Amino acid sequence: MIPVLSVTSEAAPLVKTGGLADVAGALPGALAAHGVGMRTLLPGYPAVMAELRKPETCAELNDCFGGPARVLAEPVRGLDLLVLDAPHLYKRGAGLYLSETGQDWQDNPERFAALSWVACEIANGLMPDWYPSLVHAHDWQGALAPYYIARSRAAGRVRTVLTIHNIAFQGLAPVSRLAALRLSPADYRPDGLEYWGQVSALKAGLIHADWLTTVSPTYAEELLTPEFGMGLEGVLLERRAELLGILNGIDMEVWSPERDPHIVPYHAPAGKAPNKAALRAEFGLPRAEGPLCVVISRLTAQKGLDLLLEALPALLERDGQLALLGTGDKVLEAAFRKAAEHPNVAVRIGYDEWLAHRMIAGADAILVPSRFEPCGLTQLYGLRYGTLPLVALTGGLADTVIPATPATLAGKVVATGLQFHPVTALALSNALMRLCSLYQQTGLWRTITRNAMAHPVGWDHSATAYAQLYKDLLGKRI
Ligand code: ADP
Ligand code: GLC
Repeated sequence: MIPVLSVTSEAAPLVKTGGLADVAGALPGALAAHGVGMRTLLPGYPAVMAELRKPETCAELNDCFGGPARVLAEPVRGLDLLVLDAPHLYKRGAGLYLSETGQDWQDNPERFAALSWVACEIANGLMPDWYPSLVHAHDWQGALAPYYIARSRAAGRVRTVLTIHNIAFQGLAPVSRLAALRLSPADYRPDGLEYWGQVSALKAGLIHADWLTTVSPTYAEELLTPEFGMGLEGVLLERRAELLGILNGIDMEVWSPERDPHIVPYHAPAGKAPNKAALRAEFGLPRAEGPLCVVISRLTAQKGLDLLLEALPALLERDGQLALLGTGDKVLEAAFRKAAEHPNVAVRIGYDEWLAHRMIAGADAILVPSRFEPCGLTQLYGLRYGTLPLVALTGGLADTVIPATPATLAGKVVATGLQFHPVTALALSNALMRLCSLYQQTGLWRTITRNAMAHPVGWDHSATAYAQLYKDLLGKRI
């Protein structure tokens, strides 16, 4: 087995705020079949510590960014976990990244620099009986690991990969924190860690990792443009030859219409009916002639849900319905609560994993109108459950949904959903009209939902791609 250390700030089913957790949680299992033995380094948040029963103490650090810390090891829920137990950094209520008032924890740069630092220490032999050949870091929270490793004895011996799940989060810190973050002042320059007068952990990783990946081929190309690169497109253009887009998969056991314990199981789209009735009852929605659409999402500008508010009349005028589950931006939360005054709109503000399952199983369609979407997972759940995805033509949404267009419908029917472009309220409302009309064409609708359910959305293909990348990187060394 190739020993690989995954460095991540979240991993399902232990701690999750978004798709990063699903991916970091699923990859180790998917890679095991390819000869990769992946251990996962996670911060010791209270929710993670509570899962540990009899952890082994593998290492102790006297000064881990302002306090003592330990590295604990224990297999937990299918993950070979290494936990950075550093109470001064992680033992807090509220969110993983945000305080009770919804602000970033002031010491977030240190909290995740510590995680990355310990990953580097492990690569340098901190644990007496195990060290990785390769460190795979995720997003800005892990991005300093390739930097520290490049500056350590392990440089050249231990390979590094950094995956960009979302370039909008760049891990910025004031330059006054350089020393506290254990970064070399000599690296604070425009072709180093400097980003518009601040320090960027993500940029450090983008420059120093041996290889970069992101979570879809289209996003890998979009990232090179000013529209999507968010100021880092220049750095990425420099590293274009080492940037690869590998699509996310979903956990086929957790998301299985045939075996999902939270729904009435089904094998074909027609089997959705009892789940639809249950969903309507749960959300207090009446019977209707149009499609029942769902949204399950963080409520942020990224997800384009303000466009949905504007485009909603196109759905409601055709007796379509919307059930939304989400949390985030307070203005959007209030706007959706207001929209729910319409009898065909129902809204749950909050986070509820099992409700998400019931919604995907019960709905006719799932809407993902994102302005940018590195991969997106909910459209994949939609495909698997025969819940037709209506998505913006961007990032991973472009790579995973085959749109019903005159061309795809004219030939052998292969369509699995609907796409719209440009990402505007007008284009979305046109797509909602197309959705409603498709829904009335029962035979065609059934064919498309069947196509969707047959579309491969598991990890097989992508796990092979990651394993191949690791092997290529390690092969180069020999
Ligand atoms: P992102 O990571 O940008 O939020 P993804 O589509 O990749 O977007 O992943 C989001 C994940 O979080 C999915 O598993 C989705 O079901 C889940 N999710 C988002 N919001 C909620 C919510 N309010 N309740 C339950 N699950 C949610
Ligand atoms: C990010 C992206 C999302 C992606 C997820 C997992 O949160 O916003 O598109 O699916 O990471 O890679």
